[in-house]
Amino acid sequence: MDKKSKRPLRIKIISMGNAEVGKSCIIKRYCEKRFVHKYLATIGIDYGVSKVTIKDREVKVNIFDMAGHPIFYEVRNEFYKDTQGAVLVYDVSDRNSFESLEHWLLEMQNEIGNQAEHENVVVCVCANKCDRKRMVDEVEGKLWADSKGFPYFETSAQSGDGVNEMFQALFEGVVTAVENGGKKVPIVTQLGYTKDQIEAIQRLRNAKSDYDRLGLREGASKDEVNKAYKRLAVLLHPDKNVAPGSEDAFKILLAARTALLKR
Ligand code: GTP
Ligand code: MG
Repeated sequence: MDKKSKRPLRIKIISMGNAEVGKSCIIKRYCEKRFVHKYLATIGIDYGVSKVTIKDREVKVNIFDMAGHPIFYEVRNEFYKDTQGAVLVYDVSDRNSFESLEHWLLEMQNEIGNQAEHENVVVCVCANKCDRKRMVDEVEGKLWADSKGFPYFETSAQSGDGVNEMFQALFEGVVTAVENGGKKVPIVTQLGYTKDQIEAIQRLRNAKSDYDRLGLREGASKDEVNKAYKRLAVLLHPDKNVAPGSEDAFKILLAARTALLKR
């Protein structure tokens, strides 16, 4: 069948993320090509439609822009059902908004209910306000997104950076899923590194003590330190691990081992 003769496809997209991270501004930047400085909190939900052409196909996008504030939970919770794509936003200058991302995924999962339906929602992560002083660096954001299998975008609703690319990838991901019978096809099919490698880097970056960095209990023996070091060194060696942050993580690992062996 000629693709162009197909009827317009209707898809449903939502936005998620803490209050004030810039969800409405990202959507406004995309749909109206402008930026609003003043904060106008979304009350419950905002709805908009956008027409786009994706893979030669006319697509009508229904966008449900959610309010991030907890008091609006009772309003927004009705809108998760039948979602095909989600823009998951945090503000790089606000650590708490990054740490809340898991909570947003849980909320979506609880409201959708059906595990398969939830897993087939195409999610794009937006590290927004990247024009600002950062509290969450690119490596940390990308590692988190990679660990979930979500594409990651650095965006600024203010300058417009990354916004079109993000929506393009999101719409393409959803249309591809629809053409695949509603089953999500991972946009990032081959990262080139494993979940174990991502987790090792996250641990080395976030741990509070040298023992913790090596995944050991306080006071572990030198033999245990060496064993843990060897295991991690194989995972993390920058020649093998191309994951973001692997070089720095390898340096942290070396320093932690040196410090523990000197004790
Ligand atoms: P709720 O509707 O309450 O959930 O918030 P929201 O996530 O929709 O936030 P909104 O888009 O209303 O933006 C919040 C504030 O952040 C506004 O003052 C925006 O001007 C500002 N803002 C949004 N995006 C950016 C950005 O990329 N850079 C900068 N510097 N400010 C931004
Ligand atoms: Mg809003």
